[in-house]
Amino acid sequence: MKPKVREILRVKHLSKTFGRVPACSAVSFSLRQGEVLGIVGESGSGKSTLLRCLAGRIEPDDGNVLIASDDHVVDLWEMDEASREQFLPTTISLIHQNPRDGLRIDISAGGNIAEPLMAAGSRHYGSLRATALEWLEKVDIEGRRIDDLPEIFSGGMQQRLQIARGLATHPRLVLMDEPTGGLDVSVQAKLLDLLRSLVRELGIALIVVTHDIGVARLLADRLMVMQCGRVIEQGLTDQVLDDPHHPYTQLLVSSILQV
Ligand SMILES: Nc1ncnc2c1ncn2[C@@H]1O[C@H](COP(=O)(O)OP(=O)(O)OP(=O)(O)O)[C@@H](O)[C@H]1O
Ligand SMILES: [Mg+2]
Repeated sequence: MKPKVREILRVKHLSKTFGRVPACSAVSFSLRQGEVLGIVGESGSGKSTLLRCLAGRIEPDDGNVLIASDDHVVDLWEMDEASREQFLPTTISLIHQNPRDGLRIDISAGGNIAEPLMAAGSRHYGSLRATALEWLEKVDIEGRRIDDLPEIFSGGMQQRLQIARGLATHPRLVLMDEPTGGLDVSVQAKLLDLLRSLVRELGIALIVVTHDIGVARLLADRLMVMQCGRVIEQGLTDQVLDDPHHPYTQLLVSSILQV
């Protein structure tokens, strides 16, 4: 079945097993343009594995990842490898929990933003630098830091730079694995504001994996709860959190209330 109009992503029965560990079992969901999906679940429940399968990093054993392209729908894991490598950089961006995993630590902040743009075909130095400056401003990093190496940035700045690098090519789909983990509360609040405005401004579809129910409530339109590789509950964020049906979700919500 084809995804509906404006549906960016449809995942059907995606499964991935490592040895005898079923990391993801028959995961299905869909996502529209401008929509934010939060994924919560206990450690080891398969959240990162799912994101990696969606980002083209790990091939699932079974299932489909259907992505809306300009005027048609592509099946990510049915494409040949060369086409997938060409398709991914301008379509999907994976933002890692640890910004160092998503940055080139040995090139300047501006170079980090320009690199994926160059991979997507931009060549003009002046316009690459102008775009890099624009993105630094968007993520609240002073333009005069453009030639600095990210290694001398704070953790929060590195995370914001990783987001600029990931979003500058205007991907349709952005996948974030614990983007606010390890950040202090004020930096986290600023980052969440930034993400909300970028989703609105660019109309991207965003998936955010988080341990933090507060982050999910602030950011996500819909919420998916995973346990042992399975989706045990999904729905509108407020509905899932205010009226959780599955015992694990009930536990998750009540443990937050007791804090
Ligand atoms: N490359 C791998 N090789 C073998 N097993 C793996 C690999 N990656 C993940 N797993 C296993 O798959 C299961 C799901 O792991 P995953 O990292 O997706 O969980 P997670 O929900 O992201 O956990 P966390 O919240 O701790 O980040 C775990 O049992 C894990 O040990
Ligand atoms: Mg993980």
